[in-house]
Amino acid sequence: MNLAVFASGRGSNFLAIAKAVKSGKIKISLALLVCDNPGAPVLDKAKRLGIKVALVKRQDFVSKKDFETRIIQHLKENKINLIAMAGFMRMLSIDFVRAYRNRIINIHPSLLPSFKGGHAIKDAFFYGAKVAGVTVHFVDEEMDHGPIILQSVIEIKEKDTLDSLEKKIHKIEHKLYPQAIKLIVQRKLKLVGRSVRIKAG
Ligand code: GAR
Repeated sequence: MNLAVFASGRGSNFLAIAKAVKSGKIKISLALLVCDNPGAPVLDKAKRLGIKVALVKRQDFVSKKDFETRIIQHLKENKINLIAMAGFMRMLSIDFVRAYRNRIINIHPSLLPSFKGGHAIKDAFFYGAKVAGVTVHFVDEEMDHGPIILQSVIEIKEKDTLDSLEKKIHKIEHKLYPQAIKLIVQRKLKLVGRSVRIKAG
């Protein structure tokens, strides 16, 4: 199986996945990083690890369709059959999602369906939520939406600051994402309607 990670920013989840692959915890080839942001720190991380990068900038294309066609070309060239979105701050089109149906997963720093969007940790913290968490899910046509693979809950304590909560959530993400990818690689997931069942053993 060949994995592509899509990221636009820091790349801490990309790094966690790369480490899990390198150590043999996940038996998959991390074949490609797709990035849309030339200033993203994730690019350096990929370079250091010797992972192939496709830098595809939206502004180089007239339409979103052309932008995505270029990305799909890269995916085909690298025989990608699983895509992990890790802080890729662009919505994929319906056509893209349909072309890779059930082969795109995403990580989001909240207990979906609460607190969708780009500032989930901050939103939960300032809302005054008592719990927060992380969700890994299959991607469908809506933002931060689709069948849930794994979730992890964390209590927001009174002594927590936004910074301490962010740190704790990222720590959980770096464990949960590799775990979810491993379940897919081991073919342990079964979609039954909207819900994802995890086969035992
Ligand atoms: C992660 O916290 C991820 O859950 C979030 O972006 C961050 C990327 O961090 N994704 C979303 O909010 C998706 N809506 P990273 O670049 O260090 O992996």
